[in-house]
Amino acid sequence: MLKRGSNALSSVKFGLLGHKIAYSLSPLIHNTVFKLLGVDASYEIVDIPEEVFDSEIRKVLATYRGLNVTIPYKTRILTYLTDQDDVARTVGAVNTILITEDKVIGYNTDVRGIVEAFKLRNVDLSGRTVLILGAGGAARAAVYAAHIMGASAIYVCNRTLERALELKRHFENYGINVRVEDWDRRAELARVCDVVINCTPVGTQSWDSPLPENVFRKGQAVLDMVYRPRLTKLLNDAYRCGAIIVDGLIVLIFQALAADEIWLGRPVLSVDMFRHVENVLVEHVPDCKLPEDLRT
Ligand SMILES: NC(=O)c1ccc[n+]([C@@H]2O[C@H](COP(=O)([O-])OP(=O)(O)OC[C@H]3O[C@@H](n4cnc5c(N)ncnc54)[C@H](OP(=O)(O)O)[C@@H]3O)[C@@H](O)[C@H]2O)c1
Repeated sequence: MLKRGSNALSSVKFGLLGHKIAYSLSPLIHNTVFKLLGVDASYEIVDIPEEVFDSEIRKVLATYRGLNVTIPYKTRILTYLTDQDDVARTVGAVNTILITEDKVIGYNTDVRGIVEAFKLRNVDLSGRTVLILGAGGAARAAVYAAHIMGASAIYVCNRTLERALELKRHFENYGINVRVEDWDRRAELARVCDVVINCTPVGTQSWDSPLPENVFRKGQAVLDMVYRPRLTKLLNDAYRCGAIIVDGLIVLIFQALAADEIWLGRPVLSVDMFRHVENVLVEHVPDCKLPEDLRT
């Protein structure tokens, strides 16, 4: 039997903790990585109904070496953590946990996912103005990613103003300045900012966008955290206006590779590994395919 905290990785289990998440691409991504690395590990959906979360979670923590955490447990899991790494603490959101013999440690790999996605598309954020739509977990990761990439100003617009102000207050504690603007000003700001990042779910499985179609321009970069469909209306509009587009599937794959590095304790994240996983997804999942002229 596997002893917790041992280095042996035979038949180690990892999973995505959430509810109603059967649609997730994470099992395919992680199992593809484990196979390529020759690691005897598996990744599966860990779906727990909300009413039994507290009775089931201890069993889950005793079974898995690592978990990704998604809706609706992103906040509820926090009480079960014994520690958080510096990035997760600064961001104020956890999406990955590592379970050892005596610790349950929270991490945030979305930040690395966003940084690596911009790097893949050769988008440099240093000295550039960034507009972030949304104020949830993804927006928090985007704020921190923009900050460490050297953005000159970070604007946040959220449908619920108070949530954006709460985000601003949180980052103030870490010396990071966020400028909060009314949701109604988002189109005006999108016209002038160098980089736009959508961290709302608008556009998921629908042809909607959080912005009007004509606000983009050449020289701008637009990241949509939404990854299904891969080419969202927002990205399609931005591309037609000449902007560089960065899709959410790139972030999804890189954040998964970053989680694998934490879990396996070895280098995993590389452009080659990204391409391998991307090709598998494109082959198996119809809406992971980008139109030919948008692939780079
Ligand atoms: N590509 C990736 O790897 C990756 C990683 C993480 C997340 N994501 C995606 O990013 C999106 C946000 O995730 P999250 O974890 O940040 O979610 P979250 O914590 O629930 O936050 C959602 C945010 O979107 C806003 N919002 C929701 N519906 C909206 C609407 N109809 N119009 C305008 N704003 C709306 C919410 O505003 P209020 O405060 O007003 O409710 C909130 O600020 C999801 O689609 C998720 O799948 C992708």
